[in-house]
Amino acid sequence: MKRIAILTAGGDTPALNATLFGAVQQANELGIEVYGLIKGFGGMVSPKLPHVRLNPLFSTIPELDPCQGGTIIGASRTYIDANDKEQLESVAARMAKLKIEGLICIGGDGTINGMQPLSEYFPCVLAPKTIDNDLGLNYIDEPNEWVKDKNDSIHDGYRHASTRDEVSLGEIVNYVTPGYATAVFVVAQSIERIRTTAESHRRIAIIEVMGRDSGYIALGAAYGQPDMILIPEVELDYPKLISRVRELYDMQKHAVIVIGEGVQDSEGQLGAKSKSVDPAGNVLFSGAAERLGEILIEELGDDYFRTNQRHDDAKSAIFTRKVGHTQRGGRPILFDRFYGAQLGGKAVEILDREQNNHLATLNWTEDSGFTTGHLSANKLRDQWGVIHAREVHHSLYNEQRFQPSELGRQYFAPIFRNAIGHEDMEAIKSNLFSPGNLVTRYQSFNVEMQKRIQYLD
Ligand code: F6P
Repeated sequence: MKRIAILTAGGDTPALNATLFGAVQQANELGIEVYGLIKGFGGMVSPKLPHVRLNPLFSTIPELDPCQGGTIIGASRTYIDANDKEQLESVAARMAKLKIEGLICIGGDGTINGMQPLSEYFPCVLAPKTIDNDLGLNYIDEPNEWVKDKNDSIHDGYRHASTRDEVSLGEIVNYVTPGYATAVFVVAQSIERIRTTAESHRRIAIIEVMGRDSGYIALGAAYGQPDMILIPEVELDYPKLISRVRELYDMQKHAVIVIGEGVQDSEGQLGAKSKSVDPAGNVLFSGAAERLGEILIEELGDDYFRTNQRHDDAKSAIFTRKVGHTQRGGRPILFDRFYGAQLGGKAVEILDREQNNHLATLNWTEDSGFTTGHLSANKLRDQWGVIHAREVHHSLYNEQRFQPSELGRQYFAPIFRNAIGHEDMEAIKSNLFSPGNLVTRYQSFNVEMQKRIQYLD
């Protein structure tokens, strides 16, 4: 191939620029021009097809810094309607006019769905990213285990009839996605900071983390040593939960609970009662921590806290915090930079070999460590063509202790063992309190990138 395009779609992650960087460096090696399409599929449907040349003369533009979070080419949650043939054809015609021979999409499951109809017009490859770590499979047969069940409102009328008691770590398809490690890094630090205030003021902190239906971020929060972790994959058992909270509070006069935003009880999801959706049709999650706080206030009651004069009432003893968008912003840590770049490079390599509608994957085995590979996107789909978010397999979670299981701890080890580089610590030391920050305004890459944007005539 002589010229390809690349875009970043869906919610941003800290590793997007690193993935772009890896892709462009690989393209430089192969003598391929890379055009960055602005604002994901949103730019693609624009008649002017705004784009930026990311490697003029096969050298990467200086704005593309793998250490910087976000994406210099912008992202959006706009997707192309697979049934809108007219729109698909006009996109294909614009791409042909720019002499684009193939497309790389950096994204998650929504992006694969957006990419698939385009793959009928030109070769497309996905480079994975998502802080939720939900793009992949616990084992290769997993998609075939989904059944239709109209009573399962959580999974939109599907239910996973899992056949496996345990997973073997070496068979996980796409072991971890770029962005996840940095999200866990931020969450673990937040827990440490919230812990000391809960501890000092004898309070119960409920910390809500992102991840939608998948509990990977919540489970990874274990590195911050919360007392309890609640994941969406395991329905809340209130008597067990309340009894553990009492036990902890009695002993240490405070407790820290991490809750994944998609956590559910027997009536459904705790949060997201509004059912509002983003442009990709994803339900927006909100309110799980608040709802759990209300339940604890009611169940524990004021008298419980008045005993020993720990608090005037339950309401003042229990507080909630959302880690929010800091989880997916800012500088990526070494693990995400390195493997984001590797996956970007791999995506170019397989696109150049015309492995259409494939995704680059990051796999792990005891013997080989992390290696990149690729997979047909259809392998992620169930028999009805749906890609389900990868869930934390129950063997990775200890329901009695509300913590990762032994296997869960083993799962984390290869990701986090060397996830932070010396240069990450150095960057904090030299950049955060730099006197220059007080005199110079933040220099947005958007300003420089705007000067590079070109349009179709
Ligand atoms: O999928 C990534 C994610 O960060 C989820 O964890 C979260 O639910 C959602 O996106 C938040 O979306 P938005 O940026 O639209 O608020």
